Amino acid sequence: MNGEILLCRLGDIPDGASRGFDPHGVGRDTLFIVRQGAALHGWRDQCPHEGLTPLPWQRHRYLNARGTRIVCFAHGAQFDIATGVCILGPCRGASLMPVALRVTASGEVFLGAPEACPTATDHFSGGAK
Ligand code: FES
Repeated sequence: MNGEILLCRLGDIPDGASRGFDPHGVGRDTLFIVRQGAALHGWRDQCPHEGLTPLPWQRHRYLNARGTRIVCFAHGAQFDIATGVCILGPCRGASLMPVALRVTASGEVFLGAPEACPTATDHFSGGAK
């Protein structure tokens, strides 16, 4: 599709892991993906607590030790992986911003066109192998 950017292959993200991406070459990761089985959850790397604060303490490290929640390491906010909603911490109830992903039948993961992106429900979640 027009405007889509190839991010990686599905197999590049191990099940239960997260990975950051810098698709526009700004010099730091601006979005990240968490894989849960065949489901991919894509989010902007911006904490809703303080505007543009990136979440990870180290590149690609967006999850807590158990891999059950997304964590912002600035002030410890914890987010549900699938919904992006903060469930613990200083911005409880606020949400990460979703990014639109598309996974092809051959396992290529694309970032959707900007106009295809943000609502809380239209990020890719499930289906592709
Ligand atoms: S900036 Fe993320 S919890 Fe404060």
